[in-house]
Amino acid sequence: MQLPEYPESYWRRTAELPAFPRLTRDLETEFAVVGGGLTGLTTAYLLAKEGRRVALLTADRLLGGTTGYTTAKITAQHDLIYDELIAHFGEDKARLYYEANAGALAFMRALAAEHGIACDFVDEDAVVYATREEGLHKLDKEYAAYQKLGIPGERYDTLTLPFGATAALSMKRQARFHPAPYAAFLASEIVRLGGEIFEETTMDKFHDGERASVTTKDGYTVTCDSVAACSHFPFFDNGFYFARLHAESSYVIAIKSPYDYPGGMYITANEPKRSIREVTYGGEKLLLIGGESHKTGQGECTIAHYETLKRFAEDTFGVEEIRYRWSTHDLVSTDKVPYIGYAREGTPNLLVATGYRKWGMTTSAVAGRLLADLMLGWDNPYAELFGPSRFQADPDMGTLAKETGDVAYHFVKGKLEWLKKDPDELGLDEGAAVRIHGRRCGAYRDHEGKLHVVDTTCTHMGCETEWNAGDRTWDCPCHGSRFTFDGEVMHGPAKKPLGRL
Ligand SMILES: Cc1cc2nc3c(=O)[nH]c(=O)nc-3n(C[C@H](O)[C@H](O)[C@H](O)COP(=O)(O)OP(=O)(O)OC[C@H]3O[C@@H](n4cnc5c(N)ncnc54)[C@H](O)[C@@H]3O)c2cc1C
Ligand code: FES
Repeated sequence: MQLPEYPESYWRRTAELPAFPRLTRDLETEFAVVGGGLTGLTTAYLLAKEGRRVALLTADRLLGGTTGYTTAKITAQHDLIYDELIAHFGEDKARLYYEANAGALAFMRALAAEHGIACDFVDEDAVVYATREEGLHKLDKEYAAYQKLGIPGERYDTLTLPFGATAALSMKRQARFHPAPYAAFLASEIVRLGGEIFEETTMDKFHDGERASVTTKDGYTVTCDSVAACSHFPFFDNGFYFARLHAESSYVIAIKSPYDYPGGMYITANEPKRSIREVTYGGEKLLLIGGESHKTGQGECTIAHYETLKRFAEDTFGVEEIRYRWSTHDLVSTDKVPYIGYAREGTPNLLVATGYRKWGMTTSAVAGRLLADLMLGWDNPYAELFGPSRFQADPDMGTLAKETGDVAYHFVKGKLEWLKKDPDELGLDEGAAVRIHGRRCGAYRDHEGKLHVVDTTCTHMGCETEWNAGDRTWDCPCHGSRFTFDGEVMHGPAKKPLGRL
């Protein structure tokens, strides 16, 4: 079974999203929300709903970021997390984490039902399952945490599914949906309620002051009372977020299978991670199979990750066709709890939401509510738990030291690597780091035979980017910036393109 030649997300492909203009003038508003993913849309919607003036500005089209490439499970079962949260933060905060995410699921369910949003919202149980002894042990600890926190869950000794599961833990009545119609509804409501949306508008710099302002890359200024950075990686410069977050890439294939899938959203408790669920598209059922996570820019050849998922799908379910394949990355905070709230001490007019650890469907609704409440000057019971300033008191400094060491390792490794490959050796649609006149460069030969050569040194802090053969991108192993094959920035923290040679 062949992999589709070009990656294509099912969500983006079917998105019927309205188009909005780019910003071509200075703008004055009450609140500016930066980012057209689910976080930005939810925040702007909740502010507009309060009758406040809001402008949402996004670099790409709506859902051009990670939300357009998710698997769209809406669940408070964030893999295994509750046992770890109790150990790090205590029982009360672990319970708050659950309540925040369960509340977010309820909010999304109610919104979809109340407005009849045709977003294929389906209630389903979320299940973590173990295929090995190590997974079984973790599952038991997680189940004990569910019981302590009062989370409705059920523990099973077997599963009648072909995964080889030895045990499983379910969280009842979670959900899945199609994020594009849901996002389209939020966008149309923002506009109906008097808000403005600007696409293809990249925000560059935040300026503090009596009133906040943000300048766009095209040189226009947005002046407002406060700014919410919902740009996945924060678009502003300060706050050391690059040292407090790391990026993880994951892969998904959507297959047509003869297997009669009985429903449910499954994820493994042990390695290798596999995430499995069903979607219905045009009356036809497809299975989404995800996994193969690794730190962005640090995996093996990316095509190999798709091949591994394909083999798993063939062995487990049988495959008639692979319809889509895609990969994307999400950001992970040092203590696994997202950063949502005031971006840095002493700047009350700059807020941030990031570090969702691949659980951004419920977290975007948690963040939307929390950011909107803070911008409106209201209390929110989850402000302390998610507050980015908790970092100062974070007991898990070991993780940060490890991250910093990892960055230093990749910085030096990239510089010392001795490359023998010559650009002439590259076949059609092949890319690699090559040596030209003794210098490390990145070369990609496209389908027409044209060679695109870039300086592989990341414009963020100088690590050497690596070739991603699956997506035809240059990915940075240090803080996860991604660039197109000819060097344009796809994801920050880098803001400038790779040098073209
Ligand atoms: C493979 C995979 C599967 C996943 N599956 C699930 C799942 O099943 N369930 C779940 O809960 N979560 C899942 N996630 C996680 C979830 O998709 C993300 O956490 C979530 O979509 C992040 O949303 P966001 O709005 O914060 O960011 P994004 O969707 O990335 O939105 C950020 C927006 O900001 C814009 N932007 C960036 N920089 C600027 C700038 N300078 N100026 C203006 N705009 C800017 C971008 O263009 C983009 O539109 C998955 C993640 C991955 C990687
Ligand atoms: S993303 Fe930081 S050096 Fe590349």
